Amino acid sequence: MDEVWWQQAKKIGSIVKTTGPFMFLKELINQPQFTGAICPSSKRLGRHMAKHVPLDSDGIVVELGGGTGVITQALLNHGIAPERLYVIEFSPAFARHLKERFPSVNVINGNAALLDMLLPPGVKINAIVSSLPLISLPKDTCNQIIKQWHALMQGQGPVIQFTYNLRSPLWKTHIHARHYHSEIVWGNIPPAKIMTFRF
Ligand SMILES: C[S@@+](CC[C@H](N)C(=O)[O-])C[C@H]1O[C@@H](n2cnc3c(N)ncnc32)[C@H](O)[C@@H]1O
Repeated sequence: MDEVWWQQAKKIGSIVKTTGPFMFLKELINQPQFTGAICPSSKRLGRHMAKHVPLDSDGIVVELGGGTGVITQALLNHGIAPERLYVIEFSPAFARHLKERFPSVNVINGNAALLDMLLPPGVKINAIVSSLPLISLPKDTCNQIIKQWHALMQGQGPVIQFTYNLRSPLWKTHIHARHYHSEIVWGNIPPAKIMTFRF
């Protein structure tokens, strides 16, 4: 009886450990500067981010900072084919989780600051969808990421980024976009601002 109980408890423990909120909390404690939020993104935020991604092109879609996979799932629901989706995730634990959850998606455990080296050479990018915590990342990393956007997305599709800073975050002053649009998702906890840039 004790053995059965112990096996059940172990099974429940391993399920809890791989649920989004638990993993998120663990990563938040391990690397707060890179996790940059107190909980995973909401499905509503994911839907609002995904709707800006064009579906009528043959390039790839890049997601930066996949975390537990809420936005990844929203992009798939929006109609992006898994083999055309590349998710760049810095945390090995999150990357492992994403690979298990989305075996057909291209999940890369790497740093978005080196994006051009992580993608197939010369590939066409339809959109970049980012949950990166640009506010809390080291300044150099943040600047490198923004430089990559300028270089890779010139004349291409949108870069879609969300922030919990409903005013204007400091990193935005480094962005020189041809077109800019913003929208607040009040139904997210906390409310989030989605910013869309075209270079
Ligand atoms: C706010 S969380 C994303 C939450 C995610 N949308 C979810 O619902 O779980 C930010 C994510 O960005 C990742 N990250 C932070 N810096 C990164 C970098 N330089 N390159 C790639 N991923 C990074 C973190 O590991 C974390 O998973």
